[in-house]
Amino acid sequence: MSFRIQPAAPSRPNRCQLFGPGSRPAIFEKMAASAADVINLDLEDSVAPSDKDSARANVIEALNTVDWGNKYMSVRINSLDSPYWYRDVVDLLEQSSDRLDQIMIPKVGCAADIYAVDALVTAIEMAKGRTKPITFEVIIESAAGIAHAEEIAASSPRLQAMSLGAADFAASMGMQTTGIGGTQEDYYVVRDGTNYWGDPWHWAQAKIVAACRTHGVLPVDGPYGDFSDDEGFIAQAKRSATLGMVGKWAIHPKQIALSNTVFTPSEEAVTEAREILAAMETAKANGEGATVYKGRLVDIASIKQAEVIVRQAEMISGSD
Ligand code: COA
Ligand code: MG
Repeated sequence: MSFRIQPAAPSRPNRCQLFGPGSRPAIFEKMAASAADVINLDLEDSVAPSDKDSARANVIEALNTVDWGNKYMSVRINSLDSPYWYRDVVDLLEQSSDRLDQIMIPKVGCAADIYAVDALVTAIEMAKGRTKPITFEVIIESAAGIAHAEEIAASSPRLQAMSLGAADFAASMGMQTTGIGGTQEDYYVVRDGTNYWGDPWHWAQAKIVAACRTHGVLPVDGPYGDFSDDEGFIAQAKRSATLGMVGKWAIHPKQIALSNTVFTPSEEAVTEAREILAAMETAKANGEGATVYKGRLVDIASIKQAEVIVRQAEMISGSD
């Protein structure tokens, strides 16, 4: 048991991060009108190399002109192994308004990657007199990224969120699948002639959640590629929420409502959490540390579990 108090993650809703290619400005207004909490304008892998310069210009113009309402605005820059990323950072920081909240750094492999971007961002903020510090989010999507998740989570006070990027992660790990998230056909156990599917992303997700919770960062589940499969998306999102993640990406607008529903604690869950808190108040008044709620044990740890749900619900309803 450490005497250090676990730091709180940023208190803002992050139930759904909607992505759109920076090379497709026709969808920017639709993204702004959506119900996503976070908007990710992409300069990286959804933009062809020949479109990198024009996409960057589109994104800067859109940040400065579109009415994004209360969206948390993030731009995914190119990765540090590309020739594009420094220009992304320089142009974004020099030319975009304060409407830019966050930069997403993909394919992060170690804490020094964040340090490099932080140094550049800090210098431009000083040079330009930017008074609102840009925050960071990262994608863990390589073997090195997951191996160093903990040092990455601790890398900078700018860091607010960490996502698992299933496709690049699978490629880097040498996983035999082309699926982006969700259950994979060949990941199963057999019992009495029946196949039972497991979740190949479970370990990486749990590792990311632990790294994030240790350092006050929001853990987020990345994309679910098959946007025709609502049932699969919901199941994946529910597993992520159960493990402690706060939200998920949408790579198509139809995934936004699904994500918002899963990552907003249900009325029943909030009612039950409040009832557990009330039961424990009564127990405390009677000098007891444990009691029975609906036939099961609740104790002082149950207060903390119930508070997670109540706090999440209050934060989300307070931001609407
Ligand atoms: N945000 C907002 N609106 C979007 C959108 C998005 N990401 N993607 C599509 N739309 C709009 C379309 O413009 C269309 O609008 P309309 O009804 O007014 O014509 C509607 O939603 C339905 O779109 P649909 O025809 O089903 O999809 P599409 O073929 O136009 O695009 C994708 C499909 C997957 C190419 C597109 O959703 C996309 O680019 N997604 C994001 C990809 C990305 O950023 N990847 C990087 C992170 S993994
Ligand atoms: Mg990727």
